[in-house]
Amino acid sequence: MSQTQTLLKRRAFLYALVTMPPALILAACAQQQPTVAPTITTQPTNIPSTAIPPTSVSTVQSATQAATTVPTIAAQLEPTPACGDTDDNPTPAQTEGPYFTPGSPERASLLESDMQGAKLVVTGIVQSTECQPIARALLDFWQCDDAGVYDNAGYTLRGHQFTDEQGRYRLETIVPGVYPGRTRHIHVKVQAPNNPVLTSQLYFPGEPRNRTDGIYNPALEMTLTENADGSKNGAFDFVLQV
Ligand SMILES: [Fe+2]
Repeated sequence: MSQTQTLLKRRAFLYALVTMPPALILAACAQQQPTVAPTITTQPTNIPSTAIPPTSVSTVQSATQAATTVPTIAAQLEPTPACGDTDDNPTPAQTEGPYFTPGSPERASLLESDMQGAKLVVTGIVQSTECQPIARALLDFWQCDDAGVYDNAGYTLRGHQFTDEQGRYRLETIVPGVYPGRTRHIHVKVQAPNNPVLTSQLYFPGEPRNRTDGIYNPALEMTLTENADGSKNGAFDFVLQV
């Protein structure tokens, strides 16, 4: 298009604009509004809640329902992990340390009446790398007290137990204290019937000393929840190469 033709078109447009009735000009502006509206990002905060169209409310409700439904489904599926996941790797072995005492009493609760420290219940299962629960597996736990001291003369905070037919165990104890050079931990030996003993340790999430303890292994962290009364629940599943 030549420069002269362009000039003539502009003049024709301006003439039409001047001679156009006001109603038509407003209609032309109204047609352009949708392209302008999305750029007004602050407008929704100035709109009274009563002005929100019903469709917007239902959209928010649907989004909320969807957000609450997905985690619920995930939580329901969690107890049945698929065999072959990384969770099925054998539980790592750890050093026994200097404070193991053989011959601990058989008991699932290490609690005593005058014991200091927050109550802790640890639950879980012992299973094979093929995801089969191991019944009658031995678990021998030992730990220091609330002040970080081991009972090396007796059996305070020491005890062994066996898994039930579903491979489950349940330990009642206290949250152990800490002592120099180590982060918070519980020692354990686990043994499937007629199989070698696995010696290992369990750790607590969120402990500052986890970052500096050279023995600590994140694969051995329990999941931990705190109850309203200050007691805690730990969970850990052992996987044995049997
Ligand atoms: Fe220890």
